[in-house]
Amino acid sequence: MKFTYTLAATGLLLGAVSTSAQALDALQVRSLAASCSACHGTNGHAQPGMISLAGTPSQLTVQKMQDFKAGRAPSATVMHQLAKGYNDAEINAIAAYFAAQKK
Ligand code: HEC
Repeated sequence: MKFTYTLAATGLLLGAVSTSAQALDALQVRSLAASCSACHGTNGHAQPGMISLAGTPSQLTVQKMQDFKAGRAPSATVMHQLAKGYNDAEINAIAAYFAAQKK
């Protein structure tokens, strides 16, 4: 019983690792980016008063996200917590997605 459980847990762990190492497909990237839309607007076009992400060079978004994640950038609200939910590949993909949107 214990053995089976350990095997299953190892399988889950390996599964998670290989998923994060895989390249993200376009649909996955779009749905990751959509999770930002509640605050940063559809495809990164924010309402007045909020920061738009559309057309931002991807290095800037990556840098900001990594800074939030590491606690280096000040966040008045949610970005510290939120940034921790994405791995490097996801952050790079999300940043590239927004960089490709027209301002
Ligand atoms: C619940 C609202 C909310 C969501 C969802 C959200 N953000 Fe933010 N974001 C903010 C706020 C508010 C700020 C301003 C800094 C702060 O107070 O945290 C911000 C700031 C940023 C900044 C810094 C911009 C700058 O020029 O300083 C980046 C980059 C960013 N968010 C990216 C994202 C990405 C990428 C996602 C989706 C993975 C996302 N945000 C989802 C609310 C949100």
